[in-house]
This record gives sequence, C-alpha cells and structure tokens, in this order.
Amino acid sequence: MPNRREFLVGAAAAAAATSASKLLAAQDGPSLSNTNVGGNNQGIISELPENPPLASKLFPPEHKFGVGGTQLGNIFKVTPDEEAENMLEACWENGVRYFDTSPFYGMGLSERRLGHFLNGKPPQEYLLSSKIGRLLKADASVDSQGNWKGDLNFSYHFDYTAAGTRRSIEDSLQRLGVPKIDIVYIHDLTPGMLGKDWREYLETARKGAMPELSRMREEGIIGHWGMGVNNIETCLAAMESADPDVMLQATKYNLMDHEEVLNRLFPKCRENDVSVIVGAPLGAGFLAGVNRWLYSDGIPDGYWEKRDRIAQIAHQHGIDLRTAALQFTAAPDVVAATIPGARNAQQARENRASMNVRIPAEFWQQLKQEGLIAQDAPTPG
Ligand SMILES: NC(=O)c1ccc[n+]([C@@H]2O[C@H](COP(=O)([O-])OP(=O)(O)OC[C@H]3O[C@@H](n4cnc5c(N)ncnc54)[C@H](OP(=O)(O)O)[C@@H]3O)[C@@H](O)[C@H]2O)c1
Repeated sequence: MPNRREFLVGAAAAAAATSASKLLAAQDGPSLSNTNVGGNNQGIISELPENPPLASKLFPPEHKFGVGGTQLGNIFKVTPDEEAENMLEACWENGVRYFDTSPFYGMGLSERRLGHFLNGKPPQEYLLSSKIGRLLKADASVDSQGNWKGDLNFSYHFDYTAAGTRRSIEDSLQRLGVPKIDIVYIHDLTPGMLGKDWREYLETARKGAMPELSRMREEGIIGHWGMGVNNIETCLAAMESADPDVMLQATKYNLMDHEEVLNRLFPKCRENDVSVIVGAPLGAGFLAGVNRWLYSDGIPDGYWEKRDRIAQIAHQHGIDLRTAALQFTAAPDVVAATIPGARNAQQARENRASMNVRIPAEFWQQLKQEGLIAQDAPTPG
C-alpha cells in the first residue's frame, strides 16, 4: 500500500498526465468549454471547469463538480432503482467523476446503489467519498426514518471512536463492493444532529476518529479525510486539533447564505491548506425552484423575495437561477468541487450543463449592487 505522501505524489503525476493529454487534445481541435448549454441537454461534450494544478492539497478532484448521494438513499421520497441508475449513468456519460455517499443515506441504500453502479469501472477513473460516525445494524422493523423513505431495514447508532471508525469504513467497503474510498468525512458531528452532548462526541472524535483516519490515510486505506457537516465550529475544531485535508461544508455556502463561511471558514482552510467541497448547493432544492429549504418546508423570512429577485435578474441576463447557484458555489479558490444532488437523469444533465453556461459579469455586479450577495463573495469569472 502506498503511504500518504506516495499517494499524493502518484495522484499529482496522474493528474499532470491527464492535463497534458487534454492540452494536446485541445491543440488538435476546437475547444467546447464555455459553450452556453442550457436546459435538458443530452450528450454534453464540453469540459467541466477544472481545478488549477495543485490549487489545494486535495488531488483529485480534477473538476470542480461532482454529484451528491442523498437521492440514492431515498431522501424525501422513494427513488426507484432504475431512476437512480439512470441518474448515475447520466452523470458518468457527461464526464462527472466525483461521487459522494454515506452509510446514513437511506441506511446503506445509497452506498449499495453507488457501489453497484461503480462495479467494473476502473477505480483510478473516479473519486469516491463516504462518511463515518454511524454504525448500521440490521433491523427489519425500520421502514421510513425521518427524511429517508421506504423499507430501510437498518437502524444506527452514533460512534466516533477509533474502533467505530475503522469498522464503519470496512462496512462501507463491503456495501460499496469497491476496492477504495478516496475521501472519508466525519459525518454530522454537530449540535443539530447530536443535541447538547455534541461536545462530548467531538472530544471522542478528537481522541478516536481523527487520529484513526490519519492512521488509515498513512496505511493507504483511504486517501484523504475531513468533516462532513452543516456547521462551521466542528470544521474549525478539526483543523485546530488534527490534520484534515478537506471539509464537506453543506448548507452554509450557497447563494442565499454564505457570509459566515466566507469570513470564518475559508480563511482558516487557506491557512491550513484544506480544500472545501460544497454540499447542498441548491439549498436541498430551493434554488432549483423546489419549495423546500434545507430539508424542511420552513422557508426563512425574506427567502421567497430574495429568490424571486435573483431569479428575475438572472432571467434578464439570459441565465437561470440554478445555474447561478451552482456556479456561485464552485467559484472560490478554496472550493475543490460543488456536489448537487440529482433525483433523476434529467436533473443530473441539467446541473452538469449549468457548469458550462457563460454568466455575464454584469449579473454578479447587479447582485452585489442590490446587496443580494456579499460584496467580497468570489464569483466565476
Ligand atoms: N453533512 C453532510 O455531509 C452533508 C449534508 C448535506 C448534503 N451533503 C451532500 O451534498 C449533496 C447535495 O445536497 P442535497 O442533495 O441534499 O441538496 P442540493 O444539491 O442542494 O439539492 C438537491 C435537490 O434539488 C432538487 N434538484 C436538483 N437538481 C435539480 C434540477 N436540475 N431541477 C429541479 N430540481 C433539482 C432535487 O429535489 P427533488 O428531489 O425534490 O426533485 C434534489 O433532491 C448530498 O447529496 C450529499 O452528498 C452532505
């Protein structure tokens, strides 16, 4: 097994080779980057926006775009197997190579479906992340649980110990049926999930999960690790007490709400050479026109009006709200990828197509002039 240094050097060499071959390909024929593709596109052949070489320690992803795994786990409603498979196939056909999942997503269902899809695909051709923090237990009495729908057949308990971490990764490898997991996130270590005892769980993770993930990284079992959370505090705590590579920051960096991450998290990530992956870039659907904000029907005050106004300005500039929302989250230098979830193939194609739309600079200027986004928010450009 390669150690971490060898893994990174190897990955960098592989990416350099890929970039070199792309450069040659670009010299051979016209580039289709920045083609303005919209709506329901089939067979997109233009390139995704790339991460500049060595922009971050996280290497790959090569592209600033991936796909989330909550829909594969039947979030909000049952997603039939065929729809899930078609969604993944649409991603793959359109060049998407970063896939995120978790044992928690549908109590193992998301990992099982993703593993089935990746079966037979060369592991060096994709980037896969999953998570630790919950251990699953077979339990026939469990059907829907919270936002996860259908006959799930598993319950879980939280476990952020070293032994629980290793066990969780071994379980994930078996459910996925693939030989590697590139990134492992410590999942949901937040007050929102764990209540008032969350600091005790954090202490357990500091002594258990964090050093164990660093060991597993050294052993070459995983490539990188970090936090996969909906808050900032635990990301900061992890950077203070351990050596993570990447933060999956979900729900707090999006078009509607981003100032805290911009001001508190990104500078620390830069200081520590830690990359960011943006989860829930569409606010769990709100910014794609769904009337749901972050996993509930409770839409915060002022959000309807703000969404309508941004959508109106987008329309005036010939683009759409979802496209603005996705590109906004991928823009910061410290962001290695944005990973919207897609329910079906059509959504997957639309989201992927959004990444190649050319957005006029005047659109972002107007959002800033009207105070709709932070003055210092990076915008694509
Ligand atoms: N703590 C963590 O680590 C954490 C937390 C949250 C998310 N994440 C990760 O981030 C990923 C993305 O988050 P998310 O999936 O929860 O939220 P999201 O990407 O913000 O929104 C996904 C939802 O938006 C709607 N949507 C997507 N594309 C659309 C399109 N083209 N047209 C219309 N509607 C569209 C769909 O709603 P419908 O299904 O209703 O059609 C879909 O379920 C997750 O899948 C997960 O991998 C991680």
